[in-house]
Amino acid sequence: MGKKIALITGASRGIGSCIALKLAADGYTIWANYRNNHEAAEELRKKVEAIGVDCVLLPFDVTSNVETEKALQPMLEQDVPEVLINNAGIIRDSLLVWMTEKDWQDVIDTTLKGYYNVTKKVVFNMLQQRKGTIVNISSTAGQSGFPGQSNYAAAKAGIIGASKSLAMEVAGRGIRVNVVAPGFIETEMTAKLPADEIIAKIPMKRMGSPEEVASVVSFLCSPGASYLTGQVIAVNGGIYV
Ligand code: NAI
Repeated sequence: MGKKIALITGASRGIGSCIALKLAADGYTIWANYRNNHEAAEELRKKVEAIGVDCVLLPFDVTSNVETEKALQPMLEQDVPEVLINNAGIIRDSLLVWMTEKDWQDVIDTTLKGYYNVTKKVVFNMLQQRKGTIVNISSTAGQSGFPGQSNYAAAKAGIIGASKSLAMEVAGRGIRVNVVAPGFIETEMTAKLPADEIIAKIPMKRMGSPEEVASVVSFLCSPGASYLTGQVIAVNGGIYV
């Protein structure tokens, strides 16, 4: 049996690095994309290798089709990932009346253009293998909206529509596409938010951990989820049900 590979975008820290470690523990060779934090990526590589599987670091900006192509094409000529996790994401919060065009566009581009750039290339190869699992990381904001996050909510709602469409396009070829929508998860992205105010609004009265997101992603990639496609799984402590 050949090695099974998982490609994770935005894997150098937070939820992405946790997903990489969980999938490494599940036996996947890791292709870890990151943008520019080489030090954090090296740390991840060491941790993945300590689990006993290989880790290839792929620095590229998912918003650039040229960079994505340059990094992925040589890899895809050798191997095809069985799993793709589109996790790269950014926030640039402000009320819409104050939001700059750049903050709108950067957030949309990271989530949606990044999804297009990476997924189009990988799914082409998955289709030829007639095998594959894609998990896209959305957000509660994409399901319920959130004040100050028009750009982010639009991007994260968009990824749900894109995922459902692709799920229907490729289901007949043995490829499953699902979405995980985390609520408030303790990472650098949420580090500056007022934790007490947020926790008061969460029915489970705590924020989630990146591990709690990674374990759901791991399940979605496993044979246990073999009849599950086009779904949005919320991991949010009950803040949006
Ligand atoms: P984070 O900010 O700690 O990590 C995001 C990762 O994406 C970083 O490694 C960053 O370098 C990478 N990234 C950003 N732009 C990129 C680009 N253009 N090309 C390549 N990589 C890029 O954030 P966190 O919390 O780990 O978030 C991971 C995903 O989960 C994101 O999509 C985020 O929107 C989503 N999410 C996070 C929640 C939270 O509460 N932390 C809640 C809901 C969704």
